Amino acid sequence: MRTIILLIFGVVLSTTSLSAQTDAAKGKKIFNGNCAACHKLDKKLIGPALGNISDRRKLEWTVQFIKDSKAMIAKGDKEAIEVYNKFNKIPMISYSYLSDEEILNVIYYLDNAK
Ligand code: HEC
Repeated sequence: MRTIILLIFGVVLSTTSLSAQTDAAKGKKIFNGNCAACHKLDKKLIGPALGNISDRRKLEWTVQFIKDSKAMIAKGDKEAIEVYNKFNKIPMISYSYLSDEEILNVIYYLDNAK
């Protein structure tokens, strides 16, 4: 029981810190350096357009996808499989070397770039 409570607490804590990152300039730099070869904000390229990604995906989902989309596909995540199939089954690189903070800054940039 104690472990369960601690677990729930941990999840709440990590979700809170998830929404606290708001540096679009840093996010833009990471995006241009790592993602722009395959993604644009407003158009399909190799992968889908990513502008305002949070309008259609949950934040936790997007973070997980960027870290390891292949694991999500392997686990049977419906949305991950759908977008993978739609984009000719080209798996995306796993950005496990980016920190949560870096990924959150990228997402913030995607959601707020004009
Ligand atoms: C080599 C090409 C490539 C690079 C580089 C790349 N992606 Fe992708 N990305 C894809 C493809 C292709 C898909 C479509 C899904 C799939 O094939 O698994 C995708 C899908 C996504 C999705 C899901 C979009 C949706 O509509 O659900 C997100 C989010 C995403 N990428 C973010 C990023 C971020 C952030 C970076 C840089 C850190 C990045 N990608 C770098 C090719 C790439």
